[in-house]
Order: sequence, then structure tokens, then C-alpha cells
Amino acid sequence: MTIDKCANTPQFRPEWHFAPQRNWMNDPNGLVYFEGEYHLFYQYNPCGKEWGHMSWGHAVSADLVHWTELPVAIPEGEQMIFSGGAVVDWDNSSGLGDGVAPPIVAIYTAHHSATAIQSQHVAYSHDKGRTWQSYSNNPVIDLGLEHFRDPKVFRHAASDAWIMVVALPREHKVQFYRSPNLLEWTLVGDFGPAGATGGQWECPDLIEIGIEGTGDESATRWVLKVDIDKNLLAGGSGAQYFVGTFDGFSFAVDSAEAPADGAILDHGPDFYAAVTWSDLPPGHEGPILIGWLSNHQSGHSYPTHPWRGVQSVPRVLTLLLDNGHLKLKQVPVTQYLQEARQTGRFRQIVAESCGSVTVAENQGCVAIDCDNGAWRPGRIRFLDGDTELAALVIGEDHVAFARYATEAVHIDDYAREVLVGERQAKARTVLILLDKCTVEIFVDDGELVFSCCLFPVADLSIEWS
Ligand code: FRU
Repeated sequence: MTIDKCANTPQFRPEWHFAPQRNWMNDPNGLVYFEGEYHLFYQYNPCGKEWGHMSWGHAVSADLVHWTELPVAIPEGEQMIFSGGAVVDWDNSSGLGDGVAPPIVAIYTAHHSATAIQSQHVAYSHDKGRTWQSYSNNPVIDLGLEHFRDPKVFRHAASDAWIMVVALPREHKVQFYRSPNLLEWTLVGDFGPAGATGGQWECPDLIEIGIEGTGDESATRWVLKVDIDKNLLAGGSGAQYFVGTFDGFSFAVDSAEAPADGAILDHGPDFYAAVTWSDLPPGHEGPILIGWLSNHQSGHSYPTHPWRGVQSVPRVLTLLLDNGHLKLKQVPVTQYLQEARQTGRFRQIVAESCGSVTVAENQGCVAIDCDNGAWRPGRIRFLDGDTELAALVIGEDHVAFARYATEAVHIDDYAREVLVGERQAKARTVLILLDKCTVEIFVDDGELVFSCCLFPVADLSIEWS
């Protein structure tokens, strides 16, 4: 059986993840919380289901679980509106406010369609992100380069400045700029090349994250995350991250506590361009990250209609001190799991030596407890009838994830086998979120994460042995 490319595909439409009603979506952009709303802007083509005419689409949520799609926020003009961030300018440092409420300020890459030059632009909103004015003195940074993109901005209280991280994709560098007002920017440092450099560096984010398990609640480090568009995970795209310190000017990795050549954020084939929310209120869990559950190699052919593209579940980030090394953990936001419990989608399973569970309508959260002595994880298979769509292998000393090409899905670069590498086989828990065409797997409370899209023709069975 093959999938008809022009018929609507409600069977693949996620209910608990954001996907636009129609058309193409890629990176999340401008994630900002303001007056009770989580804003999700995103790379969007208002004209069709392929990449193009890039504009900022817009959705809002009161709880990070249910999303309402709003009209396009920043449309393409002479320039396409590429990825970027947004912040609330609480003290109106930019002077772009209306004197009544603080403006939301967006900083994004304008891709000039005629010259292909990429420069950084500012736009601002006085009506909770619904409409935007372009700053009159754009661009705010222009190096005259064709590859210079994806600014992400945050307030660095310790050095009293706005900071921008932005990528030089072909040079495999992230630059750091400082500003008193979001409009005038001074280059103060850069990072890279480092770690993986087999593709373009895109969508950096620099995030201060609390460390678990030190007994010191105020202990933090900074994580610099950068995506690589190809040749990372079995030839595909993905993100690497570095753990270090940031003083407002430069970022440094201490190789005694984290690998200088980086680590992988998500080992699945479909997790790209992830960024974190800005302006979460004090005491809110976080940082919170969301990523595009797709990639630029095979995502253009995913057989969903009339939309193409879905964002991940929002994930809470923490750093874990493990044998003297710091590594990132990601778990779904609390609200998501609570909602799954309340709606009866959550299933807690104590794994016996062999077992399986079928997930009705591919809709549910399956938490497998593997720490009961009855089963040391081996292979977890995702079966569509008899067809194995994907598998996670947790061996004695290695972990691997594979997604396979099938008769129903003929897509170039779709099949991937990723070896995560050496690891003590200590999986205690495996949490699997299934939402129609999306699969997100969190091993050991998010120490290892695998995300991908699958396109089953029947209800998926998850089988372990
Ligand atoms: C990453 C990316 C960004 C760019 C945007 C364009 O997926 O290539 O570097 O800003 O998508 O849509």
C-alpha cells in the first residue's frame, strides 16, 4: 500500500503537537512568553507545501500543550524572513515601545531574494505579536555575506547587556554580539570551528541551565547548541551542543567537565533548529526547548497533506553531573504528561522479558519501566503490522537507533541507522510519545533522546525483546 500524496492525511495529523493547518513549516522562531501566552513563531510558506516564500507563521498557547494558529505574523516582502528570536523589551531599551506596554522585539535574518545577502533585521509588536512593524534603520547588522543567519537574543543580567548569538554557517562559527538597546550591536567574540563541521552551522542558541545532583541549587553552566545541516547523524542533520561558561563576552568549554568536541542533542533523524523560550516568568520550569520534527534531506517529501511540518513536544532542559561530566537531559514539559494522564493516553508498563503494546490510533505515551530485574533492554521495535518501521537497540555496551525505508514510504535519505556509541546498558526507563506521525523516545529520563516521524498505515505496535 502506498500513500496518496494529494489526499488529506488526518491519520498523520498530530493532536498534541503543533502543526499548521496547511502548507510548509520548518524552524521554530521567536519563542517568547508574554502576558499569559506562549508564542510560537515559525518558518512558514503561506503559499504551499514546499519550502519557499519564507515568512513567520504564528501560534499561541496558554499551556504549551494546546495551540491556536493565528494569521501570518511577518510576511515575506523583498526579503524572505528567515529564522530568529524574540524578546520582551521590558524597559523599552530600544525606544520601540508605545509608552503603554513593553514591545516584543523580534530579530531575524532577512534573506534578500535578489542578492542572496543575509543580514539581521529588527521588527516590533505592540499587540502581543499579532502585527509587526519593521524597524526604520534595518539592517541592524550587515556583513555583506550570503551566509550569516539565525540570530537568537537574550538578556544577560550579569553583564547588563543584550546578547546575540548568530551563525556564520560556512565558517562553522557562532558569533557573539552585545547591545544596550537591541539596535546597535558590537561583535565581542566567536566560537568554532569545533566538533562536527561536516555541514553548515545553523540556528545557534546559548542557554544557561541548572545542574542537577550537586546539592547546589544555584549551580549552572551555559550550553551552546548549534545545528548542522548534513553529515552529522549517519549522514543526516542534527544538533551538537557544548557545555561551558559564558561571561557576556566569550564562551569557553572546560574539557575536564564536558567534551570539547561536543555532544549530540537528539539522536533521531528528525529534530532540527531547536531553540528555547525567552521571558519565562520567575519560578517557571525551564529552560524549555522546542524543535522541528523533520530535516532538510527527507522532510520535503513527508507524505502529510495539506500541511507539512510539525514541532516537537516542548522539553525541559537540565544538566546532569554523571561521573564528573556534564550532560544534557530533556524531558517533556510537566503539563504535557499531566494532560496525557488526564486524557487516559498515559500507559505505565513494567517490562517483562518480552512484551508488546499496540497504541490505538497512534496516540499515546508509553512509559516502560525496565529496572525491575525482569528485562534488561535489548531491542524495542516499532511495528506497522509485520513491517518494522524503526528500532531502538540498547545493547550491553552500545545504543543504536534505526529508521527503515518501507514500501509505503519512498523517500530519499529517509532510512537512517545511527550508532550512539559506547554506553553502559543501564536503561531504567524508556518513555515513548506517539502522536500520529511523530515519535519521541526519552531513555533514562531524557539522558538520550530519539525523535523521528513515521508514517504507519495501521496502529503501531511497540515490541521489546
Ligand atoms: C534551518 C534554516 C535556517 C534558515 C531557515 C530558512 O532549517 O536553514 O538556517 O534561517 O531554515 O527557512
